[in-house]
Amino acid sequence: MRLSLRFVLPLALALALVAWAVQPLVDRLTLRWFTRDLDIRAALVANTASEPLADLVQANAQQRMLAYFNRLTVDERLYAIGFCDVESGRLTATRTFPREIDCKSLAQGGAVPHVIDASRGALHVSSANVEADAKPLGRLVLVHDLSFAQRRSDETKRYVFLFLIALGGIVSLITVIVAQLSWRGWVQGTRAILRGEGLLRPSERIITPELRPIERDLRALVRDLESEFRPRDASQIPWSSETLRAILRGELGGEEILVVSNREPYMHVRRGSDIEVQQPASGLVTALEPVMRACSGTWIAHGSGSADRDVVDERDRVGVPPDRPIYRIRRVWLTPEEEAGYYYGFSNEGLWPLCHIAHVRPVFRPGDWKQYVAVNEKFARAVVQEARRRDPIVLVQDYHLALAPKMIRDALPDATVITFWHIPWPNPEAFGILPWHKEVLEGLLGSSILGFHTRFHVNNFVDTVDRYIEARVDRESLTVTLGGRECAVKRYPISVDWPPASAAGLPDARACRERVRARYQIGRETLMGLGVDRMDYTKGILERFHAVERLFEMEPRWIGRFTFVQIGAPTRSSIGEYQHFDAEVRALAQRINERFARGKWQPIALRIEHVEPPEVYEHFRAADVCFVSSLHDGMNLVAKEFVAAREDDRGVLVLSQFTGAARELPEALVVNPYDMDQCAAALHLALTMPDEEVRERMRTMRRLVSGFNVYRWAGRMLLDAAAMRRRGRVAPVTPAAVVPMRRGKITA
Ligand code: F6P
Repeated sequence: MRLSLRFVLPLALALALVAWAVQPLVDRLTLRWFTRDLDIRAALVANTASEPLADLVQANAQQRMLAYFNRLTVDERLYAIGFCDVESGRLTATRTFPREIDCKSLAQGGAVPHVIDASRGALHVSSANVEADAKPLGRLVLVHDLSFAQRRSDETKRYVFLFLIALGGIVSLITVIVAQLSWRGWVQGTRAILRGEGLLRPSERIITPELRPIERDLRALVRDLESEFRPRDASQIPWSSETLRAILRGELGGEEILVVSNREPYMHVRRGSDIEVQQPASGLVTALEPVMRACSGTWIAHGSGSADRDVVDERDRVGVPPDRPIYRIRRVWLTPEEEAGYYYGFSNEGLWPLCHIAHVRPVFRPGDWKQYVAVNEKFARAVVQEARRRDPIVLVQDYHLALAPKMIRDALPDATVITFWHIPWPNPEAFGILPWHKEVLEGLLGSSILGFHTRFHVNNFVDTVDRYIEARVDRESLTVTLGGRECAVKRYPISVDWPPASAAGLPDARACRERVRARYQIGRETLMGLGVDRMDYTKGILERFHAVERLFEMEPRWIGRFTFVQIGAPTRSSIGEYQHFDAEVRALAQRINERFARGKWQPIALRIEHVEPPEVYEHFRAADVCFVSSLHDGMNLVAKEFVAAREDDRGVLVLSQFTGAARELPEALVVNPYDMDQCAAALHLALTMPDEEVRERMRTMRRLVSGFNVYRWAGRMLLDAAAMRRRGRVAPVTPAAVVPMRRGKITA
């Protein structure tokens, strides 16, 4: 009721206003219409009267003319009539003839006023010449009563007003009813949703049995359309572990996935008589572990921990995460020769420097290649053993397993193999120096989908294929077809989980700051920089230290007021290049420390050891600046982890332009790690940046990483795989298969 009044009253007022505003318009219009009517009527009367009038004038019968005029004015509209004689200027007229009309001037051809406002109301005047034998006799003047026009106009106004009021009433009534009904519908709908029923329930009740088949078809159509459009709307999906699970359930029929990588997500390591579990420092593990927690399934990897064999079952499997197993690791055992040739040799002395432009010469030994082929076969066999169906979804990871995709597809032709290359892909010339470049390319093209972090690496790969092997390359759809198998080459920028599991249970930034500072004996007034990497020459750790040294040279005010903490996880330590690099890093840190140390304060705190992810996150929260200075990196997840850790919106990221991450995080201070002065200036800028700017930059980066998280990375690949599988179920129709139908014959 209140709603109705609130609506009806303003509407009534508005309509009254409209009615008032249209009055002069109605007056003007009715006057114009009636004047036009009277013009026509007067012309008619004049035409009819002119002949008898000419006779009467010529007969000089003035009395008869007057009687004639009186007869004519019996008509209630014709108010007066008169005749002005040309020769005498005499007026013969009815009594009512208005005095305002001057007969003499009329007789001499003067004009009459069209409308006269007389005391009894408005009068309409018109005149016409009266002639006999083309000789002018005089002017006939007809005066019509116009007051009826005023009366009609008043009547019209009354009707218009009443009409508007009625219209307003009806409109407001309908609106109120519709509003009430839709409000009730919404309330009922919301209640239904809250009860967990959904909005379609009420309509289900009103659908008659005859309409049920149509309803079923419509629902199927909607479902089809949804699933058809869902992949294209990937950017609209809020990505989380639940979304990923839903995709597996909805798009892939609840299938488990198989991941294959060299590195395992958990290593069991012997510490005296105890067995410890470690999470290796690896971008691949950082990204895929949350995905496996979400999807469950089997992760096939090299069992490289010293106690790995002690914890597996008879089929070399162990459930992880150790505290609450969700998925399993299937461990693949390698002999020392295999590990030396496949992992250290071909993968990390050959492919790694080949793909990273870090100016370390790649080494290719035929013996390493032999082991690489054999170990890839071993992993492919493990996939076949673990597959529970003939068409599993297999996620092959990285450069260690470039041959496995083809081997898996040869053994399981219906498998969907998604391969992700976690490191950069070089240009064709650089890749061409690999003696087995053809085999590696053919191995990778066994994948259904091949992913890289950046468009640049996608293009490099497609160019390399185009250059070296006989395959059909479609640059429009970025697909490569080799031996009848199509491989889609796509960009999927990798990311971290959101919210990060490693940060769960961590204290806030202030507490982390205090703990980390206490650990390295960093004073309250001293700002802290941070680097977290594997001890790899591609990470630009030496360049980073040089930049810190340059900062002290350029801005001596930071001496004693800035400490750089570097965590370096030992890696690939049997390779000479890595041993050499390790020694160089230690020596440089020592030299800089000796040069600038003051009392207890040291410029660089170097910690070369394995640090578990929660402690790394504690460091991220404690740092004022995080410096990622890779000389070349596919993505670099340390940059994204730092952003994910900073719930307090604080901390500045200094980021190498040669990382994939720099393309996604332009709010970082993006630097060329080879340019020492630029890096030192960026550090200075980061340390002096106004708080509001620090927060603004961090907030923007957090928005990006939270949306473009690792569930999106995996989800997009799985959605593409699902679409590919759907397409694969529909047999392609080749022109030869289309046989023309014979007229009149029904074909099955
Ligand atoms: O992120 C690149 C990467 O090569 C991963 O693929 C790999 O797991 C990680 O670095 C660590 O290397 P490794 O497994 O040799 O310790």
